[in-house]
Amino acid sequence: VIPYNDTGLKPDSETTIIGCGLIGVSWAALFSAYGYAVRLWDPAADWETRAERNLLTAREQLARLSVRGSGEITYSSTLREAVHESAWVQESTPESIQIKRQVFEEISACVASEAIIASSTSSFTWSQLAPFVTDPARLITAHPFNPPHLMPLVEIFSSNDVVGALAVEFYRGLGRRPIRLRLDATGHVANRLASALWREAVHIVASGIADVADVDAAVVDGPGLRWSTIGPHMAYHLGGGDGGIRSYLEHLGASQVRRWADLGTPTLSPEVCEAIASGVEREAAGRSVQQLANERDETLIATLRARRTFLER
Ligand SMILES: NC(=O)c1ccc[n+]([C@@H]2O[C@H](COP(=O)([O-])OP(=O)(O)OC[C@H]3O[C@@H](n4cnc5c(N)ncnc54)[C@H](O)[C@@H]3O)[C@@H](O)[C@H]2O)c1
Repeated sequence: VIPYNDTGLKPDSETTIIGCGLIGVSWAALFSAYGYAVRLWDPAADWETRAERNLLTAREQLARLSVRGSGEITYSSTLREAVHESAWVQESTPESIQIKRQVFEEISACVASEAIIASSTSSFTWSQLAPFVTDPARLITAHPFNPPHLMPLVEIFSSNDVVGALAVEFYRGLGRRPIRLRLDATGHVANRLASALWREAVHIVASGIADVADVDAAVVDGPGLRWSTIGPHMAYHLGGGDGGIRSYLEHLGASQVRRWADLGTPTLSPEVCEAIASGVEREAAGRSVQQLANERDETLIATLRARRTFLER
């Protein structure tokens, strides 16, 4: 086990995934493909079969991105067995505070004192989880984007600078793009942004401005494509011409404030839910969630490969 104030974990360090659903298995594939030994544990009856199948798919996808390590993967029969020799525990259990409490208390009881415990939580803050562990300094939130083995972003909050820096290094070593939050914010950064965008997307559908498929197209073939190369701030820097962002703020800042004033705050009433759900079903046009996820992954892999080729030039 590597101490947390070391410069980083060794590639053959043992890591653990607790909770092997959508996110946990994806992390497991990534950790293993970067050479870490990974122990998995999940309490569901059929979890090994499900995990094995999904691991295979994720590992094949990573191989197409030239990530081909093969850290040993072990299916543990108890949480203790999965955790006790681990240097890095990635908790990926359901988003329930009762389950997180129970799992963190169990992990704390058997984890090595120098190990890091990282939570994949989407909606709980670090402060909400910290009371459940023995040493909060070694707890971090490390929020991935689905699927973590393809999406580079990991959002980190740590109360401890040494641990926070180590976490950045650890996820960078897994080919991720970690960012660090300066404050322990609900929804981290990306989901706050995603929620703000979806709030307006729902408002646009609910108020009849455009239908679900057209709103999705407006993002994917409009700013979404641009956002895969430059973020929203930098996009306006380029929108300001030679004067950049300062010129944009001076000349078009007021127009943004007017647009903000017109944005909606929808409620998820039964009618709005029906409009969204039936609109998404029309957009899916008979494709299953699994088919749609495969299409998403294929496009993500192609995009990641194209971006890498461009960056390597
Ligand atoms: N789904 C997403 O898009 C997404 C994205 C980023 C982060 N997250 C976060 O990742 C975490 C996991 O989400 P998910 O989508 O993989 O959920 P999921 O339901 O697919 O998987 C959760 C797994 O945890 C297992 N589990 C249930 N009780 C448990 C317990 N007591 N101990 C250990 N494992 C237990 C379940 O059997 C299941 O396999 C959540 O905190 C979620 O907020 C989800």
